[in-house]
Order: sequence, then structure tokens, then C-alpha cells
Amino acid sequence: MRIGILCSGGDSPGMNAVVRSVVRCAHSMGHRVVGVKRGYRGLIEGEFVGLGPREVGGILDRGGTILLSSREERFKRLEFREKAYENLRREGIEGLIVLGGEGTFRGAELICEEAGLPVIGVPCTIDNDVGGTEYCIGYDTALRNAVEAIDRIRDTASSHERIFLVEVMGRKRGFIAVEAGLATGAELILVPEESYPREKIPEEIKKAKEMGKLHFIVVVAEGYGSAEELRNYLLSEIGEEYGEIRATVLGHLQRGGTPTHTDRIMGMKFGEVAVEALLSGERSGFVAYREGRFYIEDFEKAREYKEIDREALRLSRRLNL
Ligand code: F6P
Repeated sequence: MRIGILCSGGDSPGMNAVVRSVVRCAHSMGHRVVGVKRGYRGLIEGEFVGLGPREVGGILDRGGTILLSSREERFKRLEFREKAYENLRREGIEGLIVLGGEGTFRGAELICEEAGLPVIGVPCTIDNDVGGTEYCIGYDTALRNAVEAIDRIRDTASSHERIFLVEVMGRKRGFIAVEAGLATGAELILVPEESYPREKIPEEIKKAKEMGKLHFIVVVAEGYGSAEELRNYLLSEIGEEYGEIRATVLGHLQRGGTPTHTDRIMGMKFGEVAVEALLSGERSGFVAYREGRFYIEDFEKAREYKEIDREALRLSRRLNL
């Protein structure tokens, strides 16, 4: 079989481990792999590159993706998808593995339906928001990055007795905020999954300061609101009576860097399952991980709501002051 592989949407650390695993697993079973550069953009433009075991050497510890990625709006239009299908046919690709999040999987579904090509997805997004799977590649590394950054911010927050609003990524979801917030002992975690009224924040700050807390760190998921806006709100409500107020947006610092051992190992496992699924005749779906086992799920399951760790959020409230 001639297998194509691409990365689409936001890069996530561990994608390279998946690519390496796909290439070497396929090769070990006598199959060939072709990389598509720049995700769906490369499919439209016909950017293919042969990948053998040597081409994927030395990439396990590299963040980002050696295949490059893009957010390609044109793939939503049939005329451009038809161009992509023509390129896939010309390249002789008989099955495709796509790495990305739920948006990437929507594109994959269309390829299956319209071009009749087997496509298997591998959930790769730091947001960890793909339904049907407990884990998405890149999440663990993003958490490590966020935790390291918040720990550093705490040094300054304590030394200057400040209030810090730290905005973390997650698109519309609060997975990173909940776990990074609990792991760093943040005084407050704000996520879009919970309607925590901002009017309560000044009271919490006052309570913490009266208890003798040096700092007050709020980890706010970008989906809840912006750190800068919250800062302005707090300044207008309490000024700097309880300490100077600063806002930090961690942004893309969370998405890069060498993948953790979890993302590397999970990446290798997900990659192997994806190859085996294609070779065993699966025609459509993504690799999902639940309770220690791998499954192939329909793409539509990726759109199902996935719950954040409510227990972690509850615990943080109990331990925060
Ligand atoms: O989906 C991953 C993610 O990093 C989100 O957390 C964030 O909202 C978005 O991508 C940022 O996208 P971009 O890198 O295109 O600005």
C-alpha cells in the first residue's frame, strides 16, 4: 500500500513521533509512505515527499512537525478539494493518515466520502478537546510548558506580592487551564465550562490577602476571557489595593519545545495503530485512546462533548487558599 501522511491545523509536540512511527511501521511491513507538506494546503498544491526510515531519523525529540502544517480555508470549497483528490490519485496514494484536531477530521471525513479514499485520523492537539479519546498528542507537553511558566511567574508574584492573571490556550475548552492550574496551586482557575462570575474575583483576592497570601494567581483559559480584559476589570473594581495587577498571555510558548516522554510514546503507539487500521481495511475513522486501549472511532465522535476533569477543578477550589 502507498500511504500518505499529513499534519494539519495547529502543530502539536509529538506529531513527529507519530510520523516516525507511521513511516517505520509501514516500512517494516513492506509498505511505502509519502509525506504531504503543509497539510491540506499541500494536498491542493500537490506537495509530496517520499519518506523512508532514514528521513524520519532524529526527529523524536523535535517539537512542531517536520511535514509543516497549515490552516487551509480553501479545503472547505469543493473546487479545491477536487484538485486535492486529483493530486492524491496522481501520486498513487491508496490510504491517508491525517494528524490534527477536530477541524482536521472534518476534512478527513470529506475525503472519505467524496474521494472514497480510506483515511485514518490521529488526534493531535494541545487543546485535548477531541471527543471519544481520553488523550490527544501534544497535550502533555503543553501542560509541562504551562506549568513551568506559571511556576516562574509565581516567583515574581510572591516577591512583589502581586496579583497575576495568566491566560492559557485551549481554544473553547479549559483542559490546559484546569490541570496546569491545579498543578501550580493557582488561587483561582477560570474555564469556559463553568460560569464563574467575575464579580466574585475581588472577594476571593481580598480573602486570600487577609489570610496572609503573598500572591494571587488566576489561571484563565482563553475560552473564558482575556487576561488583559480581566485585569482592566479588576483595576476598575479594586484598583491596586491588594497588590499590583499584571496580565501574562502564555500563548504559543505552550505549543512548542521538545515533546515529553508521554507525547513521544503515545505518538508512537497512535502511529502504529493508525497504520494497522489502514492495512486491515478500515476505511474511515480516527484512533482513540480510552482506559489503556486503542479503538478506531467514527470521525463524528470527535465532535462529541468531552468533559474536563471536574474533580480536579473541585479539588483546586478546596486547596487554593
Ligand atoms: O488549537 C491549538 C491552539 O493553540 C489553540 O489553543 C489556540 O486557540 C489556537 O490554536 C491558536 O491558533 P494559531 O496558532 O493559529 O494562532
